Amino acid sequence: MESYLSTAVEIAREAGALIAQLAQRPHEISYKRPSDIVTEVDRRSEELIVERLRGRFPRHGIVSEEGGGQKTNSEYCWYVDPLDGTTNFAHGFPIYCVTLGLAFRDEVVAGVVYDPTRDELFTAERGSGAYLNHQRIHVSKHARLNECLVATGFPPFMRDHELNIHFYFRFTRLTHGVRRAGSAALDLCSVAAGRFDGFWELKLNPWDKAAGSLLVTEAGGRVTDLAGGPFQLLGDAIFASNGLVHDEMRGVFAEYGAPQSRPASGPASAASPERPQSP
Ligand code: IPD
Ligand code: CA
Ligand code: CA
Repeated sequence: MESYLSTAVEIAREAGALIAQLAQRPHEISYKRPSDIVTEVDRRSEELIVERLRGRFPRHGIVSEEGGGQKTNSEYCWYVDPLDGTTNFAHGFPIYCVTLGLAFRDEVVAGVVYDPTRDELFTAERGSGAYLNHQRIHVSKHARLNECLVATGFPPFMRDHELNIHFYFRFTRLTHGVRRAGSAALDLCSVAAGRFDGFWELKLNPWDKAAGSLLVTEAGGRVTDLAGGPFQLLGDAIFASNGLVHDEMRGVFAEYGAPQSRPASGPASAASPERPQSP
């Protein structure tokens, strides 16, 4: 396992250096769907990562956001987001990262998230703890929601029917605040490092959450779906917390009938939850 993680770290650092080098240039932006953008840097980062992974682990599957990877018969599969926080990157807002998670039979066993703007490297292997720049990290100790800082995200589609806006509103009143920083992988790392006490998102692809979910559990936190059921890498929702405020947060989701995570049949863009009554 050690060589999987150390190879992933090497690759994430190399891709991060490429992103940092290209960050100052004007970007070619194209639209996957309205308000869902991709830059040439996402694609170049992906090319580099996929080429390196194929060179080192030719049998492993690779699922990468921009479509450069391929599933194989192997029980090992890499979930790659070559640039998480694309919208931030395209606007020069410095919150973005590279993330690679390795799953064995759909269970994440190793993960890396590299933030090139702060030179922060988050790593975890199942059963061996979570680390930031090689120092052990732990989730926060806040036990009540009214002393918490939490975070969420919104997918770049279905903006007119977004159940999460109600949770956003509710948690803004119940906590120190809700951050929407624009990189789910870094949000999860912030839970692992005790910077945030909780994070949730309703529609997130496996490449966004693979590495980060392992970081949270290895840092002592809890990761489930919004109803508190088992976390599914290939499902759509994720709810991560320091564990201490999990039940209190879950109670808030339950007020609006928290959707259970469904196995995604494709990218998390597939289904849209019903809109509840306004709070
Ligand atoms: C997005 C970010 C964002 C989250 C979106 C993701 P991208 O990924 O992680 O924080 O709210 O759901 O799609 O497009 O920047 O790789
Ligand atoms: Ca992403
Ligand atoms: Ca991305």
